[in-house]
Amino acid sequence: MKKLIPFSFLLIAICACADNTSQQEEEFQQQASLKIKALANELKQALSTSMQSGGPVAAVQTCKLEAPKITHALNDHLVIKRTSLKLRNPDNAPDLWEKEILASFEKKLASGTPIDQLIHSETIKTKNSTTLRMMRAIPTQGLCLSCHGDKQTMGEDLANALEESYPNDLATGFQVGQIRGAFSVKQIIEN
Ligand code: HEC
Repeated sequence: MKKLIPFSFLLIAICACADNTSQQEEEFQQQASLKIKALANELKQALSTSMQSGGPVAAVQTCKLEAPKITHALNDHLVIKRTSLKLRNPDNAPDLWEKEILASFEKKLASGTPIDQLIHSETIKTKNSTTLRMMRAIPTQGLCLSCHGDKQTMGEDLANALEESYPNDLATGFQVGQIRGAFSVKQIIEN
């Protein structure tokens, strides 16, 4: 772990020196933005429908079963996921690079950058591959608080449903306007 951190900084430093955005990077960024929008819309729709028909306790099951399916279904040569520094589902854990970007988003938000401008793209080149990456922050909205807000004020049924499926849940206690997590898109091109 300790060895990896300076190495990733080195890679970032190399990329920062690279020339203008290549056509490949531009194409990736366009496709990644579209994929993020598609996933955001699909998840929101599934969540709202389920909240309206069955309330938050039923919607936990929808999130649990449908969110990973909806996410995987969008994958092609670009792979998308959601991640966070405060996870609910351990399958969504950030890798080292994602952790660094999430931490940088927190810093930027604290120093006044509007949350909808927290987007980061980067190209990471190694001897054998080029990895194109993009992350976009996911803001906490009012709708999210029933399941990601204060655990004390959550109904007992909901708290129990979350506890049962996610015994190590860290994704509560959020407030509107905070960063709930981020979308992360990656394309690996073998050289
Ligand atoms: C009905 C309860 C519920 C509501 C409302 C809800 N979520 Fe979640 N959320 C979950 C569950 C359950 C998971 C874990 C499922 C999974 O693997 O994606 C989750 C996972 C996530 C994740 C993936 C990272 C992690 O911690 O595993 C993000 C990001 C997220 N939610 C953001 C939001 C946002 C933004 C909103 C509001 C627009 C929201 N959620 C509303 C229940 C909910």
